[in-house]
Amino acid sequence: MADRLSDFVTYERVDGVAVIRTDNPPVNALGADVRAGIVAGMERFDADPDAAIALIHCDGRTFHAGADIKEFGTKRADPQIWTLCDRIEAATKPVVATLHGTALGGGLEVAIAAHWRIAQRDAKVGLPEVHLGVIPAAGATQRAPRLMGAARALEAITTGRHIPAPEARDLGLIDELDDSGDALAAGLAYARRLAAEGKGVRRTGEMPVPDATPELFAEWRERAVKTGRGLNAVLYCVEAVEGCLLPFEEGLRHETAVSDKSHADPQRDAMVHAFFGERAVAKIPEASAAPRRLETVGVVGGGTMGAGIAAAALNAGLKVVMVEMDAEALARGEANLRRNFASSVAKGRMSQQALDELLATRWTGAADFAALSDVDLVVEAVFEKMSVKKEVFAKLDAVVREGAVLATNTSYLDVNEIAAVTRRPQDVLGLHFFSPAHVMRLLEVVVGAKTLPEVVATGFALARRMGKIAVRAGVCDGFIGNRILGAYLKAADMMVEDGASPYEVDAAVRGFGYPMGPFQMGDLAGLDIGYLNRRGKDETRDPGERYSEGFLDRMYENGWLGQKTGIGFYDYAGGARSGPPNPQVLPMIEAERRRLGINARSFTREEILRRYIAAMTNEAAKVVGEGIALRPLDVDMTAIAGYGYPRWRGGPMHHADTVGLAKILSDLQEFAQEDPGFWAPAPLLERLVAEGRSFADLNAPAAG
Ligand code: NAI
Repeated sequence: MADRLSDFVTYERVDGVAVIRTDNPPVNALGADVRAGIVAGMERFDADPDAAIALIHCDGRTFHAGADIKEFGTKRADPQIWTLCDRIEAATKPVVATLHGTALGGGLEVAIAAHWRIAQRDAKVGLPEVHLGVIPAAGATQRAPRLMGAARALEAITTGRHIPAPEARDLGLIDELDDSGDALAAGLAYARRLAAEGKGVRRTGEMPVPDATPELFAEWRERAVKTGRGLNAVLYCVEAVEGCLLPFEEGLRHETAVSDKSHADPQRDAMVHAFFGERAVAKIPEASAAPRRLETVGVVGGGTMGAGIAAAALNAGLKVVMVEMDAEALARGEANLRRNFASSVAKGRMSQQALDELLATRWTGAADFAALSDVDLVVEAVFEKMSVKKEVFAKLDAVVREGAVLATNTSYLDVNEIAAVTRRPQDVLGLHFFSPAHVMRLLEVVVGAKTLPEVVATGFALARRMGKIAVRAGVCDGFIGNRILGAYLKAADMMVEDGASPYEVDAAVRGFGYPMGPFQMGDLAGLDIGYLNRRGKDETRDPGERYSEGFLDRMYENGWLGQKTGIGFYDYAGGARSGPPNPQVLPMIEAERRRLGINARSFTREEILRRYIAAMTNEAAKVVGEGIALRPLDVDMTAIAGYGYPRWRGGPMHHADTVGLAKILSDLQEFAQEDPGFWAPAPLLERLVAEGRSFADLNAPAAG
């Protein structure tokens, strides 16, 4: 009979093995009750003359998956996790942990405080705290390098990646693997074997770290600056592991000091906001609707996006039917699709044969819409032109079975207008993927005026299957992401016309934490796209609006389209992906300023960012105020998952709160003196400032 140590933890002796067993569904999170229970179990074990060895085990689907999310942001009750880990390690008789499922963060911290570890082969372990802006604690930064070496511990801790059990065994984090699927039986057998072999206490803290040298840490600090792109937690991780140069006890104190520093850093709040935001975006008014069947996806168009969407669907285990205009275009579509798997094949993640088989069994290409008659959902990814979209949707309406979901991947066009050409606008929505669609995590789910809740839910279900973050958006020009992008690109263009160089703007934006600046992005996307977009809007543009894109038009006219022509704002000689500035750009911009009678003035880095951020925040406030985004956090997740916004700043709305909305409003009012139209403050922003509230106040769960 097992004795109860706490609500979730029991103690039982099985043939001389003290089994300390947690049953805290769903993931055996290490809440206060569990911590207290295991500490009590260790006391009991040490004092139990009939127990030679202890086994830490969890019932259910996983070993301790990590900390208890419910304790987030609260002061945790004693015993703390470090007390627990120290107590396990200090046991006077050997302690074994038997792992299954995912042992992440606190779960692995507990496991490596034990003396021996066995894991199911399909288990995963890791120390992902860096993703929450903090460092692993409870001694993990000191114990991991003792088990796996400092260099490997640095890699594991700074990336926070999930490590499959077989690799963890090779790294030294795990001692034994088991295939039985029965973690308890495997743990008991392993414990008995250790006892029989006379394997005793083996405290991780007493092991040496042979490869820890000051040079190693200097090298990793440098690397962390590069890979972290502004994320302090990566540096804190390196600093914490560096404590393994000290004696263990001092190393533990060092870890605590670094941990405290990481917890006090505002970046932590931003990372936690992003972590919870990624989950909160699924809370939509349609969340209770049941998604429709989703097994076969149709894709119209096999260009950049169609081929990417097809690859994403295949990777998600779905069947795909691709339709192109004719046999020739279809052959190009198939080639595009195959190219999306090329790097997986080259890296050996997929064999050529497996790819051929995948396409033969789950992919069909056709030049006839009739091939789509029986699909569950179609994504249209043809040219961005309303007349073409309408033609395609009329055809889809004629051939696709009743009850299928019809989606458009349009970047800007009116989803309601597209839906209106069908007899079933309730089944139509926008599914706005980002390029490359099989890589980028964001999916904007654009809900039309007549879209049914279950159709919206199906869009979210598709995103889940694909491992993407779906954000619900309303219909407007550019939805959430591209609409806000348009506003800050406009601010950048105006600054360049007024005297900033595109290179100064790019450098300032990179300095903020973006992987690239707006003009590098233009070069990457192709400057013809913006040009054609502007020509499409020439007739409807408000004559009172400032047109600041003349220099971009000259870029197009000169054939400097960016990477695709080998020259744009930068010179990509030899097909390089980056390069020095194109020396002809600045003289061209100066000529353009002369033509317009603009006296160039200089902009500091701060001024550039102040305008860039004010434009971004203001448009985002309009997007929320108009209900295009459900909450500010939906904007934040869109920017992070789709637009390269630095995660450690939490997203534009979270960042605006940290700057202070009153400050941003006063910046807007200042800029509005030059151009009252563009810089007119969003009503929502004015209201929040007047009421002394923040964007965060609006992040309460959406109804439903
Ligand atoms: P693309 O030009 O690479 O591909 C379009 C494909 O559609 C071509 O292969 C063309 O043969 C095919 N097509 C045209 N009319 C057709 C018809 N009537 N029936 C069957 N196939 C037809 O264009 P891309 O870049 O893939 O864009 C497609 C859509 O995705 C556009 O609406 C675009 O705005 C949107 N989009 C593009 C992104 C990008 O970064 N390229 C990002 C997100 C959305």
